[in-house]
Amino acid sequence: MPRGLFITLEGLDGSGKTTQIKRLAAWMQKRSLDPVITRQPGGTATGDRIRALLLDSGSTPLASMTEMALMFADRAQAIAEVIEPALAAGRTVLCDRFTDSTEAYQGGGRELGSQRVLDLHRLVCGDLKPDLTLLLLPSLDSSLARARHRNERTVAQTGKDENRFETEQGEFFKRVWEKYKEIATREPNRVVLIEGNLSIDEVHEQIVEAVSERLIATSRIT
Ligand code: TMP
Repeated sequence: MPRGLFITLEGLDGSGKTTQIKRLAAWMQKRSLDPVITRQPGGTATGDRIRALLLDSGSTPLASMTEMALMFADRAQAIAEVIEPALAAGRTVLCDRFTDSTEAYQGGGRELGSQRVLDLHRLVCGDLKPDLTLLLLPSLDSSLARARHRNERTVAQTGKDENRFETEQGEFFKRVWEKYKEIATREPNRVVLIEGNLSIDEVHEQIVEAVSERLIATSRIT
């Protein structure tokens, strides 16, 4: 059986990834490609506990190295429990964030540098690489405004506080944004950059175009 396709979505908080992953999954389901959808941090029972620890604004101070190690602990569990079994069974995996997030947020935002993240990735994740990464980069200002608004709503509706990253200052997110751009420039074959303040439909169209191309190239659709 051919191995499944591993597709990741990346971007700043509030870049619209979650909406787009749902729309892409619906588009695939219509074509009888039933994807496995997962997210990081989270996506497994252990990962959800790690996620709560990482995102709760009560978890301060958290050393940058601890934060990076926890991201990789979560990822190792997701690879073993969800991603590898699905790919081995020939399923397409849609993953909301993967190691590019660690490179952008911890490597760039926390200034730990790319090399440390990439070294850890090789060690912990067996260098598993996405076949395709969809990087959503609307302007920094609009992403941040959307993320803050969403968080306030979530706290009001559910009492769940996933706010720790959003309390960071603009300079932090500027470094994250720049690191994402650097990754896209370094790996143009893997990373499809979707830039600018586009509508949900326009972003969806670009995503479908990139995904169709890969699915046709690998004979998964005609
Ligand atoms: P989410 O809200 O898109 O699920 O992301 C959770 C937060 O975790 C988001 O602020 C980005 C951050 N994050 C990192 O800092 N490093 C990582 O490796 C991952 C996967 C997420």
